Amino acid sequence: MTQHPLTILVTGGAGYIGSHACVELLQAGYQVVVIDNLCNSKPEALTRIEYITGKTLRFYHQDLRDKTALAAIFATETIDAVMHFAGLKAVGESCQKPQLYYDNNVYGSLSLFEAMAAAKVKNLIFSSSATVYQETDQRQYSENHPLGAINPYGRTKAMIEEILRDLANADTEINAENPWKIILLRYFNPIGAHESGMIGEDPDGIPNNLLPYISQVAIGKLAQLSVFGNDYPTPDGTGIRDYIHVVDLVKGHLKALAALTTEHFNNGGCKAYNLGGGHGYSVMEIIHAFERVLGRPIQYSIAPRRAGDLAEYFANPKLALNELNWQVEKTLHDMVADTWNWQTKNPYGYNSP
Ligand code: NAD
Ligand code: UD1
Repeated sequence: MTQHPLTILVTGGAGYIGSHACVELLQAGYQVVVIDNLCNSKPEALTRIEYITGKTLRFYHQDLRDKTALAAIFATETIDAVMHFAGLKAVGESCQKPQLYYDNNVYGSLSLFEAMAAAKVKNLIFSSSATVYQETDQRQYSENHPLGAINPYGRTKAMIEEILRDLANADTEINAENPWKIILLRYFNPIGAHESGMIGEDPDGIPNNLLPYISQVAIGKLAQLSVFGNDYPTPDGTGIRDYIHVVDLVKGHLKALAALTTEHFNNGGCKAYNLGGGHGYSVMEIIHAFERVLGRPIQYSIAPRRAGDLAEYFANPKLALNELNWQVEKTLHDMVADTWNWQTKNPYGYNSP
């Protein structure tokens, strides 16, 4: 990779996190090529990325599993590095349709890696997840915490991580000229939206995750929030997570991209980093932060615990600070205020008039 990579291929660039990555990349002077099959996103997101940045990107409406299409894209574009966001991400759906998740996420990724290798593009940032970590008594996860995903979605992430480690290991032995340089980024709980309020999370149907759910209660689309359990061994009894602003998260990707060009990665390799704030917030703290932004109460009631939920976990983010020079900058207020700004400006997501 040249010192300043010019063109970044963003898979899943029309999605929630990918669209924010496109904005940061374009603003930092990179050229952006997006591949997305739009199975969970709208082309309007791409229009808005261009509006926010005043720059254009090149879009391919393609599925990663289409090897012919991928080969054609790599033949047309001169790609320096890939940020791989494309994938299905709903834990519940992955339990109902495991084959779909293994096919889309694992086979789709293999297809991408094959096209990359054929085109000799071997710089990669992969969207992994804290869900790859095993549940233990420890509440704070470092990168060397044992791995052990507990649902098909999590296992697709763990498998792709394994594949990438194997690719990097095999490669440094046989090809030191242009080795795979791979960073796995394990996200904690991304929330928030771009400060413009023009791009954000646009879930289909009733949201599963806390922040989109609260936003829809706040705007009156849903009657009330169910707080899943208030009898956890946490200070207020509700679950604690490490929420991270999506813009902080994607800035971590740009730092990771820069790290691939440092001598640390001269001989290639595959390394994982946590992207989290290192601080947990409870469901009640999130509700109260939202109420402060709104200036009125959020309707909620206490419901039974949700199956599969842990009481509390959060990142140890020191490795990313020490080696990528990255840490979160946004506050809980920023995360909640930006979520609300996006929701009020786009009550029906990208379908809003
Ligand atoms: P998203 O659904 O908004 O974006 C994913 C994008 O990938 C969508 O635009 C979708 O249309 C596209 N896509 C899916 N399968 C594809 C395929 N086979 N070919 C081409 N395009 C395809 O999700 P997101 O929240 O932006 O997540 C991005 C990545 O980060 C995912 O890999 C997800 O698993 C991972 N991740 C997300 C979270 C989170 O809370 N959002 C947490 C941890 C990890
Ligand atoms: C979920 C996924 C995880 C994914 C993450 C991305 C599951 C089991 N895990 O994690 O794989 O990486 O999203 O952000 O789906 N809560 C409520 N009421 C609600 C919704 C949530 O009380 O209506 C609580 C939950 O019990 C939890 C917290 O809010 O304590 C956060 O939940 P959520 O946003 O769904 O994220 P995770 O469960 O951490």
